[in-house]
Amino acid sequence: MVRRSVIMGCGHYLPSRVLSNQELAAQVDTSDEWIVERTGIRNRHIAAEGETTSQMAIKAAQNALKQAGLEAQDIDLIIVATATPDYTFPSTATQVQAGLGITHGAAFDVQAVCSGFVYALSTADKFLISGSHQRALVIGAETFSRILDWNDRTTCVLFGDGAGAVIVEAQQGAGQLQDRGVLSTHLRADGRHVDKLYVDGGPSSTATTGHLRMEGREVFRYAVTYLAEIIEEAFTTTGLTADDVDWFVPHQANRRIIEATARKLSIDPAKVVMTVENHGNTSAASIPLALSTAVADGRIKKGQVVLMEAMGGGFTWGSALVRW
Ligand code: ACO
Repeated sequence: MVRRSVIMGCGHYLPSRVLSNQELAAQVDTSDEWIVERTGIRNRHIAAEGETTSQMAIKAAQNALKQAGLEAQDIDLIIVATATPDYTFPSTATQVQAGLGITHGAAFDVQAVCSGFVYALSTADKFLISGSHQRALVIGAETFSRILDWNDRTTCVLFGDGAGAVIVEAQQGAGQLQDRGVLSTHLRADGRHVDKLYVDGGPSSTATTGHLRMEGREVFRYAVTYLAEIIEEAFTTTGLTADDVDWFVPHQANRRIIEATARKLSIDPAKVVMTVENHGNTSAASIPLALSTAVADGRIKKGQVVLMEAMGGGFTWGSALVRW
């Protein structure tokens, strides 16, 4: 028998304010047609004034706990993936812990931008299979609206706010591919690309928060290659193939990147979970938001194989194969 990290439930939260492409076109020189054609995005949610990453994370966590039928006190590990914390410190995870009324266990943030959720899930898996912790709350939560340059049409049309959470529990498995739980995770980084997607501020450089800057075409150029490679690695490690995947839940950056990656790996388009149209790119929140959406509408079911992947600033990228 081996320890497996089994997903017990998931939940999400989206701010009520929806910002459409048409509204954006009234603010910057863009159009609904351009945004839809290049990205697939039509709407994104924007946090209310004063609404923070930790507040959204807590709501997503409460929904995940409810779905899993668990109490906050059952959690002994909280990992929040975010590039937009409420404060430079303490971590958003400790604020979530306090918000849920938990006073035991460990809590920390993971920073891998859009790959943050895959990094956080992989980290939680390693804690759980080591035996050090029993039940983890893994959250992706972002308020990218606060780090966007709203005068820069090349970036401000792409992102949105939101939070998603999953609860992962250590259980005994047979050590076979039929086990429920995380079957593989693969993480990568290549810091030579830091200047292609970054925020031009921070505590030790400018002592300001800064704004997101991106060479979109360059990011696109690397994305499909890196993502296909990291998924191939997951298939090689596990022996699973594209045909074994029931649902492909990629980071929701751009419809074209998602479709090109699925095509390259021969993944049936009918198996792709796509939320980018209504959420935009919510960075670390995008995968758990998509998971939660597809569980809530009945697509993802217990026992099915779910493939996740993401790439983000750094560059960082990664994949996770899970039997739900
Ligand atoms: N509205 C209208 N025109 C625009 C806009 C806009 N919002 N933004 C840029 N343009 C113009 C440009 O100025 C340019 O005009 P020019 O030809 O007169 O110079 C023209 O459109 C083409 O610009 P490109 O940047 O070449 O457009 P491209 O087809 O590459 O699409 C995009 C841009 C959508 C950003 C694309 O490069 C992309 O999706 N890249 C991936 C970036 C991404 O997804 N990043 C997310 C974070 S990383 C991640 O999550 C994977």
